[in-house]
Amino acid sequence: MKIATTIKEVRETVAQWKREGLTVGLVPTMGYLHQGHGSLIKASANDCDRTVVSVFLNPTQFAPNEDLESYPRDFENDKALCKEMGADLVFHPEVEEMYSEGSATFVEILSDMPKQLCGKTRPIHFRGVCTVVSKLFNIVNPDKAFFGEKDAQQLAIIRKMVKDMSYGIEIVGCPIIREADGLAKSSRNTYLNEEERKAALCLSQAVEIGKDLVNKGETNADKVISAMKSHIEKEPLARIDYVQAVNGVTMTPVDTLCKNVLVAMAVYIGKTRLIDNFSVK
Ligand code: PAJ
Repeated sequence: MKIATTIKEVRETVAQWKREGLTVGLVPTMGYLHQGHGSLIKASANDCDRTVVSVFLNPTQFAPNEDLESYPRDFENDKALCKEMGADLVFHPEVEEMYSEGSATFVEILSDMPKQLCGKTRPIHFRGVCTVVSKLFNIVNPDKAFFGEKDAQQLAIIRKMVKDMSYGIEIVGCPIIREADGLAKSSRNTYLNEEERKAALCLSQAVEIGKDLVNKGETNADKVISAMKSHIEKEPLARIDYVQAVNGVTMTPVDTLCKNVLVAMAVYIGKTRLIDNFSVK
C-alpha cells in the first residue's frame, strides 16, 4: 500500500492503473478511521481493482465554532486499517496541498437541500463537503466512490452534485456500522465520557422505536417522530437538535412515511453532536 501526500503522486499512480485497464474506487475520509470507514474500504476493494482512501481533515466544512482543532487524529492507526481492509493508496495531503494560497472557488448546491437537517445549524458545512469531494474526484478520477448512509444528507447531496456536474462517477451508499450495543460508529464518539457514552444510546434506541412503529404500519411522520423524541427527552444528558422525516432524495420535509423517506436526527450528548437515521423500506 502506497502513501501519497501530493496531488501529483496520486494522479501519476492512478494514470498508470488506468493505462493497465484497472478500475478505481475512492473512499473519502477525515481520518481517525474505525470499522464504519473500514466497511467502505472493504466494499471498494471488493468492487474495484484498486482502492484509494483519502485521509484529509477538511477545514472548509467546519465553521469557526466547530471542532476542527480538537478533531481526533491517528494516522498510524488509519494506515493499518486501510491496509487491513485492502486499500492500495492512501492520500494524506497537508491543507496547503489541497487549498493553495488564494483558493477561492467553491462547489455549492443552491437549492434547499443543504439547508435542511444538519444544514440548519451548519450552514457552510455542505459547501465545504461538496468542494473537497469535487476536488478529490478531480484528483483521483475514480470509477466509483463510496459513502456511508450514516451521513445520509451528505450522501444525497453528493449524488445530486454528481448528477448536476456530470461527473461520470458511480456513487455507492454503504450501510451504517454500529457498536455491539447499537451506537453508530463515529470518530466523534471518542469525545464521550463514560456517562455520555451510555446516554448516547438514546439515538440508536430512538431509531429502533421509529423503525418498529413503521414496521407495524404507522405512516404518520408526526406520531413516529414524537415517539422518538419523547424517548430521547428522557435522557438528561441529551439535547435534540432535530428529529425529522424528509424525502430521501430531495431532503424536503414530509408528513407521510412511505418508501425511501429518511428519518434523521442530530442530538447533542453533552457537548458532542451525534447523528443517526433510518430509511423507510
Ligand atoms: P468522515 O466523517 O471521516 O466519514 C467518511 C465516510 O465514512 C463517510 O462517507 C461516512 O458516511 C462514512 N462513515 C462514517 N461512520 C460510518 C458508520 N458508522 N457506518 C458507515 N459509514 C460510516 O464524511 C466525511 O468524513 C467527510 O465529510 C468527507 C466526505 C470525507 C469530506 O470531507
